[in-house]
Amino acid sequence: MEGLSDAGSLPARSICMRDIFVLHAFICGTNRTGYDIWMIDFHTHVLPGIDDGSVDQNMTKQMLLMERGQGVDHVVATPHFYADHISVKRFLEKRAAAFAKVKELQVSMEKSALPKLSMGAEVYYFPGMGSAEQLKKLMIGESGTVLIELPFEQWSESVYQDVRDVIERQRLRVVLAHIERYVEFQRDRSVWERIFALPLIPQINAGSFAKHRGGLFRRDRRRQFCLEFLSDHPRLILGSDCHNLTGRKPNLKEGRDAIEAALGRGALEMIDDVSEEVLV
Ligand SMILES: [Fe+2]
Repeated sequence: MEGLSDAGSLPARSICMRDIFVLHAFICGTNRTGYDIWMIDFHTHVLPGIDDGSVDQNMTKQMLLMERGQGVDHVVATPHFYADHISVKRFLEKRAAAFAKVKELQVSMEKSALPKLSMGAEVYYFPGMGSAEQLKKLMIGESGTVLIELPFEQWSESVYQDVRDVIERQRLRVVLAHIERYVEFQRDRSVWERIFALPLIPQINAGSFAKHRGGLFRRDRRRQFCLEFLSDHPRLILGSDCHNLTGRKPNLKEGRDAIEAALGRGALEMIDDVSEEVLV
């Protein structure tokens, strides 16, 4: 098994989870030819000129080529949606215009040169989200899945109720964006624990699993949190949350390699299975 030394830094319960991942890989491996996975980057800002991500068609092309170069088959475009800044109608018009530019790229290149692209949104939390009828218009393709970004502050009871209502009343599947970025704000973990007891799918940014040269304490602590969270919640998905070609570039492979080294291939296979499930 690869990366035992890395796994050795995890608590004992994580090593048990590693065994479960290995078992998952063993069972699912019978259906896979080697490791012919369908690799999905679930959270990206690759659409040109719609948010703080790609600035133009050329940057989008380079970002998508970078994704493809890492073996990514399918990219979900999730531009930011802020309900207090833009209407759903206007957002969808802007997204369609940005997508048209990507289509131009797709027709000008060989079919396999770029990954498949699905349209979604990263919907920032707003009070009343649980009963907002228009939320379904922001789901990823026809999947019934919405990617929700929660506030970077202590979560309140009303945040919990809205997330619960999106799932139970609106019958949407919820993916929570980059959950590792909220934890430091949750001094009181009671809402956090209730939210993660809901049937939702957590998403973690690939870069949060990567080791960083220089070993910044904050990053090391975040990486450790992510590995432990994945060990406890194996049904999660990954995204690069890429915004550009430099500081926040596509890095799915880097995160995947780090996960495989720490927890084994089974952890990745489970992530890939859940990612496919969520897009159907
Ligand atoms: Fe994002």
